[in-house]
This record gives sequence, C-alpha cells and structure tokens, in this order.
Amino acid sequence: MPGAETFRASADAYDRHVGRYGAQLAAALIAFARVEPGMRALDVGCGPGALTSVLAERLGEASVCAADPSEPFAEACRTRVPGVEVVVAPAEALPFADHAFGATLSQLVVNFMRDPEAGVREMARVTRPGGLVAACVWDYAGEMTLLRAFWDAARVVDRERAAAADEGAIMRWCGEGELAELWREAGLHAVRFGELVVRAGYADFEDLWSPLPSGVAPSGAFCKSLDEDRRTALHDAYRSRLGVGEGPFELTARAWAVAGIAHR
Ligand SMILES: C[S@@+](CC[C@H](N)C(=O)[O-])C[C@H]1O[C@@H](n2cnc3c(N)ncnc32)[C@H](O)[C@@H]1O
Repeated sequence: MPGAETFRASADAYDRHVGRYGAQLAAALIAFARVEPGMRALDVGCGPGALTSVLAERLGEASVCAADPSEPFAEACRTRVPGVEVVVAPAEALPFADHAFGATLSQLVVNFMRDPEAGVREMARVTRPGGLVAACVWDYAGEMTLLRAFWDAARVVDRERAAAADEGAIMRWCGEGELAELWREAGLHAVRFGELVVRAGYADFEDLWSPLPSGVAPSGAFCKSLDEDRRTALHDAYRSRLGVGEGPFELTARAWAVAGIAHR
C-alpha cells in the first residue's frame, strides 16, 4: 500500500501526530475485542508501541509480542516496553508458530498492509482455536477530524495531488463494514463490527502542525513535498478548516473496529 514507507520516520514525530490518540484508542480496541487477563497477545504493526504498551500493562510484558516492518518503529517500541519481544516483520509473514496467541490485534495497520487478505490470514493462523483477532482503522473519509480536515485543506492548495493522496478517497478497508467482510473472508467467525471514538488535546494549532513537515505518515509526506509558499497556504487553510484559534483545543477521532474468533 502506498504510504507504508512514511512510517520509517521518527517515532517522536509519529507520537505528536496520530500517535497522540494511540493510548486511548488501544484501551478502546482492547475493550471492544474483549481481551482478558491471562491471554498471550500479539500486536501486529505495533509502530512505536501505543497498543503494545497498554497490552503489556494489562497482561504483563512477558505475555505480549509485537511486530512491525519498520526498524525505527520496532526499536522505539522495544525502548518503550523492554520486556516485550518485538520483531521486525510484516503482517503477511509473521515469524510465530500456529496458534501461538490467545489474542492477535492490529491498530491502524490493515489499510497499510501490502496484502491485507494475506495479513489477516496470518493473524488468524497465529491465533489459537477460539482465540480472538481484532483490528481498527481510522474513519478517514468521515470523522477522523485531524486527517479529514488535513486532506480537505490540502485540496484547496493542490487539488489534483491532494485528491490522489487523500486517505479518505484512496484507502481500502476504511468504509463502514468493509473490515467485517475482510475478516469473514479470512475464515474468522462470530465477526463483530463497531466504532471507537477517542479524543486528543492540543496546546494550540502549532502543536498540531509541528510533526507534519517532518514527512511522517501520508499526511506529513504530502506536507513535506510542497514548496514553501504552498506549505504556508496549507498551514493557513488547515487551521481555518479546523476553526481553531491561538489557545488549546481538543479533536475527536473515530475508528472502525472489527473482531472475530479463530478456527472454531
Ligand atoms: C498508523 S501506524 C500504526 C502504529 C501503531 N499500531 C499505533 O497504533 O500507533 C501504521 C503502522 O503499520 C506498519 N505497517 C506498514 N505496513 C505493514 C505491514 N505490511 N504489516 C504490518 N505492519 C505494517 C507501519 O510500519 C506503522 O508502524
């Protein structure tokens, strides 16, 4: 999927961008998936470790493993939760035995997988019979405010290039219900679909803007690719689209979630 390479970036920039929602989203996904104490869990596409950290708090570091194809993100995750085994690997080729986990989760990753059908089949393979497989993706086209407003502002500045990069337009598996279809096709049972709504706080608009020129995530990569005049125009259009002033504010973000049971 175009965009996956934009995560070979600084974990700090990621944490100040969408990572700001990560811990709350992880808690919501864990509750939706019905992860229980005593389970051994795998975080697929762990990034710098938002979901891994919350899983480790709930289940203990020794009961959690994590995987991500990005070296810098895997390293940041290891530093954040040193007792967790973190491997550099994509979802499509997980280096774990069949039925190794009671819960296999993935947060904000399915839409970046090169081959999502293969990735979800791998998630099911490493999950024990009766175990759970769950994921969430942003509602890019709708109520993920930070990114929706970004791409709407980007279209004002460079209509054609923004239309070709807008995650709400080009990402698969991010429409209501699409994930459930993917889960059923991977052979998962008792598939449930739902929404997770989380919030993040910002000191001011500059706090929100600051990670983007580094090129992190598809939105940051688009921002970085602009010349200075267009980047300034994007900055101003984005701020106006969000309708925020000098002071602190909060944004909400919606993700779609899916969960199913493996090998019944
Ligand atoms: C939006 S980030 C989400 C990171 C983390 N799960 C979180 O919630 O903050 C997307 C992650 O997917 C990873 N990724 C990209 N392609 C992948 C693949 N084929 N399999 C697994 N992870 C992948 C990226 O390296 C990146 O860490």
